[in-house]
Amino acid sequence: MLRKISTIDFKSSNTTSGKTVLIRVDYNVPVENEVVVDDYRILKSIPTIKYCLDQGAKVVLMSHMGRPKGKIDDKLSLIPAGEKLAELLEMPIKFSEDCISEDSIDVSRNLKDGEIHLLENLRFYNEETENSSDFSSQLAKHGSIYINDAFGTAHRNHASNSGITKHFATKGMGLLIEQEMKFLSDKLSNPSKPLTLIIGGSKIDTKIGVIENFLGLADNIIIGGAMANTFLLAMNHRIGISLAEKEKKNVAKNLLKKASKRGTKIILPIDFSGELESFGSGDICVADAKDIPNNMVCEDIGEKSIKLFSDIISLSKTILWNGTVGVAENPNFAVGTNRIVDAIIENQLTSIVGGGDTVAAIRNYNEEYINDFSHVSTGGGSCLEMLSGKKLTALEMLKK
Ligand code: 3PG
Repeated sequence: MLRKISTIDFKSSNTTSGKTVLIRVDYNVPVENEVVVDDYRILKSIPTIKYCLDQGAKVVLMSHMGRPKGKIDDKLSLIPAGEKLAELLEMPIKFSEDCISEDSIDVSRNLKDGEIHLLENLRFYNEETENSSDFSSQLAKHGSIYINDAFGTAHRNHASNSGITKHFATKGMGLLIEQEMKFLSDKLSNPSKPLTLIIGGSKIDTKIGVIENFLGLADNIIIGGAMANTFLLAMNHRIGISLAEKEKKNVAKNLLKKASKRGTKIILPIDFSGELESFGSGDICVADAKDIPNNMVCEDIGEKSIKLFSDIISLSKTILWNGTVGVAENPNFAVGTNRIVDAIIENQLTSIVGGGDTVAAIRNYNEEYINDFSHVSTGGGSCLEMLSGKKLTALEMLKK
């Protein structure tokens, strides 16, 4: 069982002072010119931090950022993340330029109740991704309670989320992981039906596990994005010069067969908008799926598909969405994705969204709309693994 933080006592038994809690967060966030440009993961870490502070604890935060492969890289410093957190919490945060130095451990040991200390990028050491036991025992010196709230990294077997767990008698999951589990696991294993999946993006391989895991459980699986082109190829449609994985045609064919045997409908776009001659040509074109010109690049679903998908959404009780249905970073081809957002919000369903691109597309459309979804996962790979029915390594370690 994963222990909830509500069951943990953050006060030392012989004094009134609080214990020091070491929290693994996922602050792997986009940074441009030393400024965080998407603070969603940082925002989502705040409830756990505040909870611990309210209980009188001292908080030490650790995270990775990017993939520096064991080398110090100023561009991957956690300083911008710390600044963003300080701004959001409206309080100062102590920062150490190293995550295991004696100095940094001293800072953690001398924290006062209510203070926060952020450590520098764990992946400046290869030992983090190697799950080195020396490294995890050094990290463990920062606190007496361990909380994992880094859902985005929970599929990794690293020192800060796996090896470290054996150094703590008191350990548990934070409020973010608790919420991710509630929606991605509990709600979806016994969903209000009809359940509809909307799966987009370009690569079948990254989503095949999710599709297979929901065959028989989902009533509908809507497929959009470039992945839909591969399915259309599998059904012998012509797709012009659109992006597709020709070598995955058989994978798509098998999924279509399996879905019909298991009673799950797979729904593909029936029309597209895109460009003629090449991606970016500016020569916009609209066509039915059965009639795609040889020189067309499909880049978004068309109006008929929008209607078809919206009608299915309106008849559903639960929606799980991962992947945009068009090239949503281009406003010309974000229309289908935006209409799906509208349909989900209008129908007030249980709506679960995952994947950085999908979340970014919703926020680009309207920053406020993200709050209208029941759950927006902070995980990328970890979310897909969980939805594929796999166990997440770091969470399994936390149970031991
Ligand atoms: C993510 O952004 O998906 C997580 O932070 C994990 O990062 P990683 O794929 O580099 O391990």
